Amino acid sequence: MSALNNFEIKTLLAHLWKDYAVMTPQAEHIRELLAERGEVLENDHIALRTFNLEPVGLKVLERVFLDLGYVYTGEYDFEKKKLYARSYSHPSGEFPRIFISELLTEKLSTGAQKIIRKIVSQVRQGVTGKHLLYMQSLWPKVSLEDYDALLMESEYAGWLAAFGIRANHFTVSVNNLRTFGNLESLNGFLESRRYKLNGGKSPIQGNPNEYLEQSSTIASRIAWEFKGGVIREIPSCYYEFAMRYPVPGSWTLYDGFIAKSADKIFESTDVKRIRQAS
Ligand code: NI
Repeated sequence: MSALNNFEIKTLLAHLWKDYAVMTPQAEHIRELLAERGEVLENDHIALRTFNLEPVGLKVLERVFLDLGYVYTGEYDFEKKKLYARSYSHPSGEFPRIFISELLTEKLSTGAQKIIRKIVSQVRQGVTGKHLLYMQSLWPKVSLEDYDALLMESEYAGWLAAFGIRANHFTVSVNNLRTFGNLESLNGFLESRRYKLNGGKSPIQGNPNEYLEQSSTIASRIAWEFKGGVIREIPSCYYEFAMRYPVPGSWTLYDGFIAKSADKIFESTDVKRIRQAS
């Protein structure tokens, strides 16, 4: 049973990476740059985004991972961003943590709610569970007008409407890198290779006292097709880097997430901020 689960996890994660790598050209480039130094990357976590509506809510996605042997490790509220999230770890330690967030649709304006409800109502009946993570497009292409309307209220809503449920970011485990002792030196290396990090001069979120430090690249921009064949270049996904510290009195590294830091990192795909930075 467990061997079969492990095989299924590997297959699912490989699918998510393959899809993410297409959406995020910089991730594959960075992976190659680090591979040239002899690094074999391990993922700290993978982040998924969804709407809090049936049949795509957090609980439906969560079930996929719980059935594969993952265990729940914490929940997080992002009030400003109108999100709720949960994290999961695999007891074997062999697989990346999973971080699932959902947009609290009812907290947006009536107009935005209407757009989102229409989108979600178009998910084909019977598509549920892990199929939600394997489908290339869960709903038809949204119009640019709807995308822009959602973006005005929530970067997250716009992103999700355009891209559907897929990995928003993968995260390199800095603890497992052999040629970088800390997150700062990795950030310096990436900047020397002309990668722009979210947060500019102070890219690190969190600190050792919180047992977790993270940084992330500014999201890749890709040409994306909207309804009616309209194409616009929009931010897609970013690559994240995490360094974890041991919790005092414990032999293991901190396993959770910090809402405050993640709140900041969610801004990596913020269109307005990216315009300022580029
Ligand atoms: Ni993350």
